[in-house]
Amino acid sequence: MDVTPSILTADFCNLGETLDEAIDAGINWIHMDVMDGNWVINKTITFGPAIIRSVRDRLGHEVFIDCHLMINNAEETWPQYVDAGVDMIIAHIEAVQNFPNLISKIQATGTQVGCVLNPGTGVEEVMSLLPDLDLVLIMSVVPGKGGQSFMPEVEGKVRVLREAIDNQEASGGKTPILMIDGGIKHHNAAMVSEWGVDIAVVGSGLINDEGTISQNLSRINKVLESDQSTH
Ligand code: DX5
Ligand code: ZN
Repeated sequence: MDVTPSILTADFCNLGETLDEAIDAGINWIHMDVMDGNWVINKTITFGPAIIRSVRDRLGHEVFIDCHLMINNAEETWPQYVDAGVDMIIAHIEAVQNFPNLISKIQATGTQVGCVLNPGTGVEEVMSLLPDLDLVLIMSVVPGKGGQSFMPEVEGKVRVLREAIDNQEASGGKTPILMIDGGIKHHNAAMVSEWGVDIAVVGSGLINDEGTISQNLSRINKVLESDQSTH
């Protein structure tokens, strides 16, 4: 399992240094949490295309950038994020009226598309989209802020999606990335890896917890490696 940092809980006055630290630690994918002050329950505003453009300009094109759109009008405003330089748009199934249409429009620009499900949303909502998606994201916290506690009740959804993606690949279909987001730390990373997650988003566990990003990342990777060796 790989790890990608969410910069949501970074110090935005030192975002460039944080990004440099992450890249120096070997990170090659950045997860950017876009909130519009309306859609998430606590009505938070984070950042929009302008910040994403600055991040792309700072990082160059070697680093993969996804934007997790927790906004009301993704179907209308997604082009702004493509223009800002993201590699992937991850939109909430709960906030999109016509997901198949959104997938084809975004993919036509050469940008990848992910679909994200809130903890309370059933996996059946995304099954019909699996053949066309580049990624499925399972939220293991209620979207709105970093530093929340992990919700283990999403295990069943992850395992069902893992099996569905593996079956789809076995019959020659696409292999969407299976991603989890929220409350992932060094103490539960091996567990979600065993569930079949490909990439875990880690925010406070990399950026705010005791230690540098590099120290926190290697602590997670050590746990993953030792878990691999015992399986
Ligand atoms: C929450 C965001 C997550 C969050 C992860 O709405 O989508 O990406 O920043 O942060 P941690 O890892 O601290 O839960
Ligand atoms: Zn996120």
